[in-house]
Amino acid sequence: MSRSGSVLFVVYGATGDLASRRLFPALHSTLDADDGSLVLGVAKGDLTDADLQQTATASLVAAGVADGAAVEWARRRVRYHRAAEDGSVGSLADRIARLEAEHDLAGNRIFYLALPPTAFAPVIDALGTAGLHRASGWVRLVVEKPFGLDLDSARRLNDLTHRWFDEGQVYRIDHYLGKETVQNLLVFRFTNPVFEASWNRSSIDRVEITVAETLDVGTRGRFYELTGAIGDILQSHLTQVLTLVAMEPPPAFEANAIRDEKVKVLRSIRGIPERAVVVGQYGEGSIEGAPVAAYRSTDGVAEDSRVPTFAAVRLWIDNWRWQGVPFYLRTGKAMSRRLTEVVVTFRPPPICFFHAGPDDCVTHSNRLFLTLQPDEGFALHIEVKDPAADNAVRTIPLRFSYDELAQIPDAYHTLIGDLLDGDQTLFVRGDETEEAWRLFAPTLSYDLPLHEYPAGSWGPPEANRLLPDGTDWATMR
Ligand code: BG6
Repeated sequence: MSRSGSVLFVVYGATGDLASRRLFPALHSTLDADDGSLVLGVAKGDLTDADLQQTATASLVAAGVADGAAVEWARRRVRYHRAAEDGSVGSLADRIARLEAEHDLAGNRIFYLALPPTAFAPVIDALGTAGLHRASGWVRLVVEKPFGLDLDSARRLNDLTHRWFDEGQVYRIDHYLGKETVQNLLVFRFTNPVFEASWNRSSIDRVEITVAETLDVGTRGRFYELTGAIGDILQSHLTQVLTLVAMEPPPAFEANAIRDEKVKVLRSIRGIPERAVVVGQYGEGSIEGAPVAAYRSTDGVAEDSRVPTFAAVRLWIDNWRWQGVPFYLRTGKAMSRRLTEVVVTFRPPPICFFHAGPDDCVTHSNRLFLTLQPDEGFALHIEVKDPAADNAVRTIPLRFSYDELAQIPDAYHTLIGDLLDGDQTLFVRGDETEEAWRLFAPTLSYDLPLHEYPAGSWGPPEANRLLPDGTDWATMR
């Protein structure tokens, strides 16, 4: 598939946060400037084309586009359609046909569902029932995350989607895959044999992956009550990073070959028992000097909510490469620092030559820190002789920082470009979503203690109990 001619880009949820923060700027920079492609926003509000054009203009200006250019782009490109109350799409189909004829479009259509997870199924079914899954050009369906809220709902959603759309038409978004530094995990691994040769159980002691946010749940209480940290980040963003860290080299660098390898990793992960999961919820606290209210006081959140805003797990990949190497994953909202990082701890030397005292080895394990955001880059911690003292060893970092290379593009810019080009490599395949839920859905029904942690901390200290005795999470400070 490829970007052949103009497209009608239908955005369901066009008045929502995602559309204004991410989609309009990405569409502005990726839609071909001269081919007449249009964006048709769909939502429930009683708005006009001019209203949505104003929203689009404001969103472009906020993203740094000059006022005049933003107004002109929105006027030429953006239209609005009010969704029917009963969910039917007959009038949408008529509007699409009219716009395609008036603007002499090529008949290519994208349906982008920037909607809450419970709204995906009815819209997909309505599109299919009305025959909108086929057109004179190509048709692509984009579904935001989370894809399903547990294994059953993910399966049902896949079945329904496949009733109307071929898998080759379906683009499930996990925007972490659009991040340059997440893609760099593959480049890092498969172009640097020096690391790949030791990327296995013989050399690696453990792997930790953290997605920590300083953001609290803010205005998204209703959404978050449905997903919690497990549905929102653990089974999606964290799992995607995990599969890229752990997968085998694919036979070819192409969408299905890569996704096959990712699925194999997920299938090799042992079921996660209750003792390997720690969950928490933030109470009140402060972040960067500003007070933050407890999760339970957020709009749309039940006063006695037991939805976790923090989750940590230990898991094992039962395959030849990783047998015996623990992987530790954690994520939390309202934490003390924004950080997405993979830390690989290598095995210590088999014999210690350098001691501070008779039983006190001064050599540390080598560590590789792959920082995906912010301060994108990596650091390899190695041991050198400390010139200041006999027999003393000191850890020093060898560092690389991405900002030495270029400005990093926004993930949505990359993903929408690929979507227009018909490249599914950075989108999640149906079986991946089900395998991820197969792993994490059981944890949703565990009767786990919910540890409260103050907003602005590193989450509940109980998460340390997953790690080897006496160790702490190896975040680079
Ligand atoms: C979204 C989650 O998918 O990712 C949000 O729904 C989270 O809860 C966001 O804040 C984090 O994205 P980023 O790109 O800021 O790390």
